Amino acid sequence: MRVLSGIQPSGRLHIGNFFGAMRQHLQLQAEHESFYFIADYHALTSHPAPEVIAEYSLAVAMDYLALGLDTKRTVFWRQSDVPEVTELTWLLSCVTPVSLLHKCVSYKDKIAQGLSANHGLFAYPVLQAADILIVKSDLVPVGADQKQHIEVTRDIAMRFNNAYGEVFTVPEEHIIESVAVVPGTDGRKMSKSYGNTIEIFEPEASVRKKVMKIVTDSTPVEEPKDPEKCTVFALLKLVACPEELAEWERRYRDGGMGYGEAKKRLADLIVEYFQPYRRKRTELENNLDAVDAMLREGAERARAVGSQTVVAARNAVGLGARR
Ligand code: TRP
Repeated sequence: MRVLSGIQPSGRLHIGNFFGAMRQHLQLQAEHESFYFIADYHALTSHPAPEVIAEYSLAVAMDYLALGLDTKRTVFWRQSDVPEVTELTWLLSCVTPVSLLHKCVSYKDKIAQGLSANHGLFAYPVLQAADILIVKSDLVPVGADQKQHIEVTRDIAMRFNNAYGEVFTVPEEHIIESVAVVPGTDGRKMSKSYGNTIEIFEPEASVRKKVMKIVTDSTPVEEPKDPEKCTVFALLKLVACPEELAEWERRYRDGGMGYGEAKKRLADLIVEYFQPYRRKRTELENNLDAVDAMLREGAERARAVGSQTVVAARNAVGLGARR
């Protein structure tokens, strides 16, 4: 099985990214041939400042590498280092009905959030399809919000294959469900755009400060509390072992426990959870050239696979020159 996924370069990753997708990506590399890339072409659709985009891509790369992405097993690259994917996007665009893209809710959501209705944003799912099809991925592990984009990819692949012959593998989605939503410090979904994140490699003191500020209700200490309605408990679920979690659940329900106490323990557990990887993260920060070199090497490997697919697609549609 060949697995592929793309990660938006949004700067340092937070624990929502980790439990939502990254952890599963890292696990999959042990079992499958894995291809992961940093989707910087996609990022352009929301106009990040030019200085920021490279920095954010490197930050994401360092987070993945520090947490165990193994470049010996896994092909890991920056999307824009394999520009062939944009050519494939064009070939796919020509079999993609506009009506298919009009149905994509993520486009509508982004417009509603205030992004400009640029063509890149509209065509985003076609670039994503090209990402997936170019390496002939079988499985695409993504969060539930990406389900529709995978369906669009399958649709485009089938249209192309029907029109021009079997060039593409039609991929399966693999929705990462184990933790549906990781709440942020204000109780909404953890997301950089809400400013409610806890970064994976944030300094310890700052993790503690943020955890202590998690919004809770005003149930007095002595009264019983509902763990299922508490953000602190939702985060404890991710980092506490089952025995400890059961103990917290009992203490919530019994009453006599203050949220402050649960928060302190949560902060300890978050720090402990990522502690073993901090040193590696720092090492990488001090050696950005090596990080860049790893990404470029990954791009070469992705390109070796991808360029063959693009040649096959060019030939199938009847374009002339072989490369
Ligand atoms: N759209 C994905 C996201 O926002 C990122 C992405 C780009 C992607 N290309 C991809 C994910 C290809 C899976 C496969 O998370």
